[in-house]
Amino acid sequence: MAAYRIAPSILAADFGHMALAVRDAEAAGADAIHVDVMDGHFVPEISFGRRMTEMLRAVTNLPLDVHLMVSNPERHFEPFAQAGATTITIHAEVALAAALPGLLHAIRVAGAEPGLALKPATSPAILDGLLTQLAQVLVMTVEPGYSGQPFVPDVLPKLRALRQTAPPGLTLAVDGGIDATTIRRCADAGATFFVAGSAVYSPHRTVAAGIEALRLALG
Ligand code: DX5
Ligand code: ZN
Repeated sequence: MAAYRIAPSILAADFGHMALAVRDAEAAGADAIHVDVMDGHFVPEISFGRRMTEMLRAVTNLPLDVHLMVSNPERHFEPFAQAGATTITIHAEVALAAALPGLLHAIRVAGAEPGLALKPATSPAILDGLLTQLAQVLVMTVEPGYSGQPFVPDVLPKLRALRQTAPPGLTLAVDGGIDATTIRRCADAGATFFVAGSAVYSPHRTVAAGIEALRLALG
């Protein structure tokens, strides 16, 4: 059976209590913390950056899965690596295809595992020749930008196709609209790493109950 990992996205947490949000997730058995960095250009909103990542690194031993939703990742990845990011995922849409191998290599040299994220409409063909360089492909199952959007099921065939071509060590992650229903569909399509924002951080349930519901759905 595949080892499934769940990464709560702190974008959906209470920004007044970030350390607590992370400790709750760790205590509830989360496998990583997903850190959504937004620049107000690649996506409309600005979220947080390097200083937040440093704070998170200081309060948890969990891997920090940094998702850079920024237009110039070549300018920004290094401070996140220094801040303690475990994985740094950049968007394939922002860089010229010819620049991607160098950028992914630079992320690894900086001390983080490189990942590439694909928006729902982005073809997986953009990954040709890059799969062996990557630790993770983050398949966006919503348009990047906000927590709490509905899951886009049209992405599932792309996930299935990627599962066929991905080398065994490559993590296939999904991000956006993951809840106790959609997580199973993504697992069936080949995902093993699940980012969940509003399904974990919600006024309607505890963090532990949110994570438990996702685990139960995975079986
Ligand atoms: C969206 C972010 C996601 C978001 C997920 O652009 O990349 O990580 O926080 O939130 P939910 O799970 O609520 O869709
Ligand atoms: Zn994300």
